Amino acid sequence: MLTILVINSKGGSGKTTLTTNLAGYYANMRLRTAIIDYDPQASSLQWLKARPDTMPTIHAANGAPAKGNAHLSSRQSWVPLDTEVLIVDAPAGAGGLLLKDLVRKANFIVIPVAPSPIDIRATADFIKDLFLVGGVRTSNARMAVVANRVRNRSGTPYAALERFLTSLKMPFLTSLADSDVYLQSAEEGVGIFEMDELLSGRERQEFMPIVRWLEGHFPNRFGIRNEDKQAILESSRKWAAFRPEGATGRFPAFQPVTGK
Ligand SMILES: Nc1ncnc2c1ncn2[C@@H]1O[C@H](COP(=O)(O)OP(=O)(O)OP(=O)(O)O)[C@@H](O)[C@H]1O
Ligand SMILES: [Mg+2]
Repeated sequence: MLTILVINSKGGSGKTTLTTNLAGYYANMRLRTAIIDYDPQASSLQWLKARPDTMPTIHAANGAPAKGNAHLSSRQSWVPLDTEVLIVDAPAGAGGLLLKDLVRKANFIVIPVAPSPIDIRATADFIKDLFLVGGVRTSNARMAVVANRVRNRSGTPYAALERFLTSLKMPFLTSLADSDVYLQSAEEGVGIFEMDELLSGRERQEFMPIVRWLEGHFPNRFGIRNEDKQAILESSRKWAAFRPEGATGRFPAFQPVTGK
């Protein structure tokens, strides 16, 4: 299983938007795809609830702390052992042990950042935290940054951040426009790659560098089903501490079915 962690301690930077659209993309590639949502507001899980039954199913797991019903929470936080792509939607403000744990389990870390000076400064601080608290230096995770909600491409609000990233050899993958298409996607439970291309062509084009960067590092794992089964299972076990009774630990034959 490949794990993509979408994280920025700054609220509203686009974590859920990236999570849901990456999940939509991989589910449509017919990879067994799961989202684990660590945000108590559960925006990704709400997106999955709104998702039409006709769409390729995405497994939903809840990573947020239990509210009273521990059994239900454990059950929901379970990720099937044969998940191929797991996307982790981190909560705003993630730090300390949670940050360490999320980094330890990630193969990729994608950091969305909105174009305001406050967001950019907070993101630079968060990236420092990733090194100082999160332990990225000793992890094998690859990291990259994505600009989100960009209105004016000619302005350069990111210049300072770009210099900082260059000093860390961290790529700035793409700029996603501020677009109503993402709002529609959020509301309908459908990703930009699952909408009519006439509607979301520009958004898809802007999003593709993220997908290419991810796939460039592990082409076989993303492209071929059931390859390297043992490694997939071992990685999955880190997430499958609890297995609900009666569950098989597998997605059904072709389509995952437990999206809601
Ligand atoms: N590129 C975009 N264009 C238009 N709206 C966007 C875009 N990206 C995100 N949004 C909207 O901005 C709001 C915040 O985005 P999102 O929920 O993805 O951020 P987040 O980092 O997950 O927030 P939180 O920290 O609260 O979990 C949402 O309403 C989302 O639909
Ligand atoms: Mg969110």
